[in-house]
Amino acid sequence: MNILVTGGTGFIGSHTIVELYEAGMDVLNIDNLCNSEAFINENVDAITGNKQIFICEDITNEEALRKIFSSHSIDAVIHFAAFKSVNESVEKPLEYYRNNIGATITLLNVMKSFNVYLLVFSSSCTVYGQPDHLPVTEDSPIKDAATPYGYTKQVCEQVIADFAEANPNFRSIILRYFNPVGAHKSGTIGELPRGVPNNLGPYITQTAAGILPLLNIFGNDYETPDGTCIRDFIHVSDLAGAHVAALKKLISKKSDLQVSFYNIGTGKGNTVLEVVKAFEKATSVKVNYKITGRREGDIEKIWANVDRAEKELNWKAKYSLEDAMLHAWLWEKKIRNI
Ligand code: NAD
Ligand code: UD1
Repeated sequence: MNILVTGGTGFIGSHTIVELYEAGMDVLNIDNLCNSEAFINENVDAITGNKQIFICEDITNEEALRKIFSSHSIDAVIHFAAFKSVNESVEKPLEYYRNNIGATITLLNVMKSFNVYLLVFSSSCTVYGQPDHLPVTEDSPIKDAATPYGYTKQVCEQVIADFAEANPNFRSIILRYFNPVGAHKSGTIGELPRGVPNNLGPYITQTAAGILPLLNIFGNDYETPDGTCIRDFIHVSDLAGAHVAALKKLISKKSDLQVSFYNIGTGKGNTVLEVVKAFEKATSVKVNYKITGRREGDIEKIWANVDRAEKELNWKAKYSLEDAMLHAWLWEKKIRNI
């Protein structure tokens, strides 16, 4: 099977390419490196012992995409390429709509022209907002998006559903990721945030590495056991494995549904303080932190019900939070030469 991966040099895409090769699939990776570095592809190839085909291209460029589809055999697509900063999306909404929604429309259009009808799409638990009931299932209501980024995920889900309606051969699995953390267990690929990180994982590792003076924990007055927010933190390699499971399901043509949705998390919530403690336990390195005020836009708590993914994709997260913290630390140490 030849799998086209868009955004395959990024955090989740690179780990997914490792899992795809482990599952015996071949990869064509298109990434314009707007939020990633080319050396990641070399490190992925070193882990897998394979040479991925890499094309540095912007997938909003329809003409270029058509040339790629006409010169390669493609059986299915995993579409990661998107901008992902929640804050930045508020400042640059048009860029986010163009890159996230525009690229998805372009990609679907080209897939249709070349009769490529299998798609795995990266969505986010952000579509649920603060759910009324926990753990959140795939049938929980979609809440109004708080930011343009969140809205791009909701719109893309709808675009894919409408495209399916009009194209009976098309099949798609939409994965709603919870909070990916960690790095490959070898410590050779991981998250590469540009500038000061927004997300908790890299903030912790950069604080531990002494790059940042301290971690601000945003609020300890939430209605949770220790007052800090709760999220479902999933090891990025487990998340990557879910894409292989999704592809296998699409390829087997066992589902009657043209479009199906799956929560991809661990099924367990952890507080922010628990994540810090897990990091300290796994690495024996202290994290300097202080409690500050709440961050605007944060929801109090969310974690996934993953029954559907377990049952229908035959997939389950295997790594612990401590594994994720240890692997993220190995990666941080490697890139900082610590
Ligand atoms: P990332 O930024 O590390 O990876 C995205 C990759 O896509 C980057 O390598 C970037 O260079 C590339 N890219 C972006 N626009 C492109 C374009 N127009 N053409 C070609 N390449 C392009 O992000 P990630 O964390 O790996 O996220 C992957 C996907 O998962 C995104 O769609 C993101 O919205 C979604 N997601 C991520 C998270 C998370 O916490 N990381 C959570 C939920 C959903
Ligand atoms: C954020 C986005 C979400 C997106 C996800 C992955 C918001 C409201 N949501 O999720 O849409 O899918 O990133 O990109 O931005 N925290 C600290 N200190 C820090 C960083 C984070 O205390 O320096 C806390 C946050 O308050 C939160 C938790 O850690 O409670 C996780 O934060 P983060 O990693 O940014 O992810 P989310 O906010 O869950």
